[in-house]
Amino acid sequence: MNGEPTHGPTDETHPETGSQTGSATSAPGGTDTPGHRLTAGLTIGSRVVVRYRLEEGEGAAATDFVGELVARNADFLVVDTRTERVKLIRADVLAAKDVPPPASRTGRAHERVSADDLEKLMAKGWQAVDRGGVGDWVLRASDGFTGRANSALVVGDPSLPVAKAIDFAERWYADRGRPAIFQVHGASGFDPAEQPAVAELLERGYVVGGGHESWQRVLVMTGLSAAVPPLTEQSAPVTADAQLQLDWLTTYAEQRPVVPGATEAVLTGSDGQLFLSVRDPGTNAIIGLARLAIHPGWAGIFGLWVHPDHRRSGVATTIVSAAAMVARENNMPAMYIQVSGDNAAGVAFWSDLGFTVHHEYTYVAKASA
Ligand SMILES: CC(C)(COP(=O)(O)OP(=O)(O)OC[C@H]1O[C@@H](n2cnc3c(N)ncnc32)[C@H](O)[C@@H]1OP(=O)(O)O)[C@@H](O)C(=O)NCCC(=O)NCCS
Repeated sequence: MNGEPTHGPTDETHPETGSQTGSATSAPGGTDTPGHRLTAGLTIGSRVVVRYRLEEGEGAAATDFVGELVARNADFLVVDTRTERVKLIRADVLAAKDVPPPASRTGRAHERVSADDLEKLMAKGWQAVDRGGVGDWVLRASDGFTGRANSALVVGDPSLPVAKAIDFAERWYADRGRPAIFQVHGASGFDPAEQPAVAELLERGYVVGGGHESWQRVLVMTGLSAAVPPLTEQSAPVTADAQLQLDWLTTYAEQRPVVPGATEAVLTGSDGQLFLSVRDPGTNAIIGLARLAIHPGWAGIFGLWVHPDHRRSGVATTIVSAAAMVARENNMPAMYIQVSGDNAAGVAFWSDLGFTVHHEYTYVAKASA
């Protein structure tokens, strides 16, 4: 059976036109039946490859569809390939999996992804509680917990004139009682004001950085998991927990503003994450931690922190070495991190591990946001 091109509305929420709250991985309108387990982990909005049976019978011809999964239910998958939208009957899906974003330029695994694709990937590594969209733009809200999870990610084509897209986003945030904040990115050293969306926002009284020093310029740095030094016999033991434990959360909350509920939801909201920590052997208190977000081909590190009394003794390096080991063992050659441009220690740390700046972003908001 052929994949059937479809251009009409699908039977479930499209992530870019509607709003979703909570897990984007569930299959609205029905649970997966056992015969459909192969596709159970697929995430709407992800790039997927689907091996699809073209005819009945053993040894029958099959083909692969590669593209963005835009909708799914118990009976169908809808995939936007480069050339068309196809509606695939799930009973004829032989195998399917999420795959890394495509290479858009030459370079090594951590260099060849486009900034847009990396931004979309990173948004899944720090999944907002409430999500919507305007075309490719991703609208995110999480009760104010972090700029990333409470801003409109300006990527790709909003499929509306920019002013109308901004109107839509402003209404979306106003409906939630939240200020509209826009995250815009560009090459290293880019001038945000040159982007049409930012020019429009500046006209409306928004300012680059939104009045926050740490929002002015955030560096997205990428590196190879294979280039991170391995753990040694001298390395402190690192705990990697798939569950968010109370003492990890408490230690995290001691060093940054948190929003009960939203913080736990964002920390645990990706398709896969690990909570890493190093403890003081004497007191058993956590002295260093990080969260590892897991993607096809990519690992992202969030919230890396070492207690001030234990800095410059290799704790962060040990944590990242453990994260890179997990990445290498799980087919994730590329790693990303996001660090404020004004965080000299953070930038020095990542540079020391061979990470380089892939692109930068800034937040554009009203000064009161
Ligand atoms: C950045 C941070 C995680 C580093 O932790 P750490 O355990 O002190 O780092 P390490 O001891 O493993 O440092 C490894 C190397 O990174 C570089 N580095 C680390 N801190 C640095 C600093 N303050 N200034 C310059 N270089 C630094 C050095 O090259 C260092 O090697 P060296 O000590 O032999 O010179 C820690 O300072 C921290 O928690 N800061 C606050 C939170 C933060 O900024 N997190 C990073 C955001 S992505």
